[in-house]
Amino acid sequence: MSPEVVAHRGASAALPEHTLAAYELAIAEGADALECDVRLTRDEQLVCVHDRTVSRTSDGRGAVGALTLAELRALDFGSWHGGDPAPVLTFAELAGLAADHGTPLFVETKHPVRTGGLVETRLAQELARHSLDVHMMSFSALAVRRFKALAPAVPTVWLLDRLWPQRLPEWADLPGPGVSLLRRSPGRGRGAYCWTVDTAPDIDLCRERGVRHLATNHPARTRKILAAD
Ligand code: G3P
Ligand code: CA
Repeated sequence: MSPEVVAHRGASAALPEHTLAAYELAIAEGADALECDVRLTRDEQLVCVHDRTVSRTSDGRGAVGALTLAELRALDFGSWHGGDPAPVLTFAELAGLAADHGTPLFVETKHPVRTGGLVETRLAQELARHSLDVHMMSFSALAVRRFKALAPAVPTVWLLDRLWPQRLPEWADLPGPGVSLLRRSPGRGRGAYCWTVDTAPDIDLCRERGVRHLATNHPARTRKILAAD
């Protein structure tokens, strides 16, 4: 079976990552699912931002957690990429888009220790308000374990970059290897979520290994490569 194409931060090679336009393009390009990172603002709202600070992806400065949602809304998250100005995307807005299109989500939480589990709590609350096909993910075992206790019905992905444990712990439903870990782990990958897969040889490797969910910055190109063979 061909892997499902997961648009990593939206169609993020073409348009600024984590913007509504990037996710709308990913859906238009036929992505099967959408990936996003979530962080908490100072007033405990979930927003889709990858980095700890806003400096790389906006015209502002400072940590996401030190800014209120209103302060983030005053920033431009589009122009840095050479595109149109774009506002910050809240997780509620992305969830609304996904629900409208029936598109599954893969949601990654960052830095659980700093927020003391609050980001996982807020995510579980937010997910309870929507009817979504969703996976929760994190590199942090603590974050995934905490989330599983809060929302046992939501499948979880434990993101892996250096080591691939022989057995997954009970709180993790799927392994989430980076593609370089997949390359150096012969015979493994069946059913996994693999990131970030942007070249034809890596797409072929994912297919050979039976990877189920393939996260890419290029959903249209990936879909074309998968359809060609
Ligand atoms: O999909 C998982 C992948 O996004 C993890 O790395 O840094 O892009 O969030 P990062
Ligand atoms: Ca991510």
